[in-house]
Amino acid sequence: MSRVVVFDAYGTLFDVAAAARVVAEEPGREALAAVWPALAADWRAKQLEYSWLRAITGDYVPFWQVTKDGLDWAMERAGLDDLELRERLLALYWELPAYREVPFVLARLQAAGARSCILSNGNRDMLEGAVDSSGLGAFLEEVISVEAAGVFKPARAVYDLVGARMGCDVGDVLFVSSNGWDIAGASAYGFETAWVNRSGLPVDRLMAAPRHIVEDLNKIPELT
Ligand code: LAC
Repeated sequence: MSRVVVFDAYGTLFDVAAAARVVAEEPGREALAAVWPALAADWRAKQLEYSWLRAITGDYVPFWQVTKDGLDWAMERAGLDDLELRERLLALYWELPAYREVPFVLARLQAAGARSCILSNGNRDMLEGAVDSSGLGAFLEEVISVEAAGVFKPARAVYDLVGARMGCDVGDVLFVSSNGWDIAGASAYGFETAWVNRSGLPVDRLMAAPRHIVEDLNKIPELT
């Protein structure tokens, strides 16, 4: 059985801070330019917090909804009351850029005979938008959304989707994520894991530690 490399999407393949950063550079965006790093951090933190809370309580909504809810909270905190800006930020989420090394790494994996896929909290149409706009589709065998499980990571039912969709065993998988909590869930589930620690953060004190820690995705082909 060939190696199955499972990538998280947001923050791992796609740069989630890019939406606020790109819009902040547009003419007439002075109010956003003054606060965009804090806005991007709050937006991401609330998006994830809402996903975890909704996983605990069973109140699943598509990831697009928690993405909008997180932005609304972040914009209010930043004192930005601007519907046109909100729509512009949300629109960019559908075409987030991939990190620079991503296409090269996926091409190397494909050439080496590995099977690559995405497993993400994102709903299917959001993921397809980002995959299409970054031209990654040809390298990915499947784009697996938690939608099918009706719950968010790190619920075990989400990691079950990999075996079901890729027809592989737990031991065939290398799971790659920049989210420490996602890596903890995947490691506890039994996947071999690689944590992409782009900003030198400490390891999360959670269920299980990462098997590998890398600075970016360039070393992933060597782990397969
Ligand atoms: C995802 C989130 C966790 O893509 O970044 O699943």
